[in-house]
Amino acid sequence: MSDSHSPTLAGERDQSLRIALYPGTFDPITNGHLNIIERGLRLFDRIIVTIAVNEQKAPFFSLEERLDMIRKCFPDSKQVAVGYTDGLIVDYALRHGAQTIVRGLRALSDFDYEFQMALMNRRLEHSVDTVFLMTGFRWIFISSSSIKNAARCKGNITGLAPAHVVAALQEKFA
Ligand code: COA
Repeated sequence: MSDSHSPTLAGERDQSLRIALYPGTFDPITNGHLNIIERGLRLFDRIIVTIAVNEQKAPFFSLEERLDMIRKCFPDSKQVAVGYTDGLIVDYALRHGAQTIVRGLRALSDFDYEFQMALMNRRLEHSVDTVFLMTGFRWIFISSSSIKNAARCKGNITGLAPAHVVAALQEKFA
């Protein structure tokens, strides 16, 4: 793969729109991610949920599966688009008219990593800022890995991820 994919909502671009990029691995998307997107939509007109392709992370779900699972969360949304890139997030943001990167913070332990990443992105592209949202209290303890691990051990993961994601995990581990 050499280039990124254009999100569904790319098209004519209205300069007055506040567009944000929400990047991540989303392997798979969880209710914690959805919480960030829903709250981000109060601040931005559009959010482009962007899968950062990083084969070093050896994702459990394929890129297509992850894209599909995210799209299914927002079937008719005019505000949420889904895309992916194997390049720099700031480049993708610029290409799609996003002025802001949104990231969720779950705990203090996320801060160092996020702080470094935000500064690096700022160094790479000054015009793109990072905004942090506190992950909703209910979702502070979850991550994609913890949900996968629980599913692998046949634990009850209902309510931690969208129903179709829970079903996909249960099917993989059946
Ligand atoms: N609720 C629940 N879990 C959350 C969460 C939330 N709100 N926010 C993050 N997480 C979890 C994820 O599930 C993931 O869990 P896992 O490690 O168990 O899989 C973990 O936190 C990491 O989050 P993620 O958002 O997937 O970050 P990442 O570290 O995998 O990726 C990118 C970070 C993709 C933003 C970064 O690597 C990137 O920008 N890559 C593109 C290349 C680039 O531009 N590099 C320059 C910048 S340094």
